[in-house]
Amino acid sequence: MNKNFGRKLEIGPTDRTSEQRTPESPLFLIPEAARESFVPYVTDLPVPRAGENDLTRIAPGRPLAEGDRIEVFGRICDERGRPIRGALMEIWNANKWGRYTHVDDPARQPLDPNFIGIGRVMSDDNGEYRFWTIEPGAYLARPDIGRWRPKHVHMSLLGGSARLVTQMYFPGDELLKKDPSFYLLGDAGERHIAVENKSDQEGFKAAYQFNIVVGGRNATYFENE
Ligand SMILES: [Fe+2]
Repeated sequence: MNKNFGRKLEIGPTDRTSEQRTPESPLFLIPEAARESFVPYVTDLPVPRAGENDLTRIAPGRPLAEGDRIEVFGRICDERGRPIRGALMEIWNANKWGRYTHVDDPARQPLDPNFIGIGRVMSDDNGEYRFWTIEPGAYLARPDIGRWRPKHVHMSLLGGSARLVTQMYFPGDELLKKDPSFYLLGDAGERHIAVENKSDQEGFKAAYQFNIVVGGRNATYFENE
C-alpha cells in the first residue's frame, strides 16, 4: 500500500478500517460520458404514437373531457443547459374534480368517461415537449386530517437506466402554502410552479410552461432521489 497517498483517518490502534478505506492509487476523473446516467431512452417498447400527448379526449373524434383544456410545454435540459433529447415523458393528472382514473383512488368525486388522465410524449431534438390535458382539480388527499393537495400534474422522465419523477404546480394556488410536499422544496418550490401563458389554440384556457433541469444547482426536484 502506498501510505504516502490520500488521507488516513485513525480510528484506533487495532482498527485497520481506516487503512482499508484509504485509496491505494491516485484518483482519476471518470470520463464524462460514463458519468451520465441520464441518456436518451432506448426501449423495445413502441415509441409514443401521435395523440398520446393529448389527454383532452380518449381518441380522435371522441368527445372532449370535462373541464378547462390546457397546454403544457417546456424544455428538458441538463445542468449546463444542453437539451436532453429522446427522453420519454409520462404524465398523469386528476380530472376536473380531482379524481384519478385509478382503482386505488378512494375519492368520491365523479369519474369522467372521456378522461383517462395518462399520456406519453418524447422530447424532441431541442429537448422540448408539449402535451394537452384538462386542468386537474385539487383533491382531499388525507380526509382524516382534512389535508388537500394543490392542483398538480405528475411527470416521469425515462432516460437510460434512470427514472425521474416530479410534479408541476399551478401559479396562484392558495393550497400550495399548506402542502407538505411543496413546502419541503423550500426555495426550489418556485421552479416547480409553471409559468402561465396565453394559449394561441382556440378553446384552451392557458399554456403552462414547465422546464425541467436534470442535475446541477437549478435541478428540478425528483421524488425518487
Ligand atoms: Fe397526485
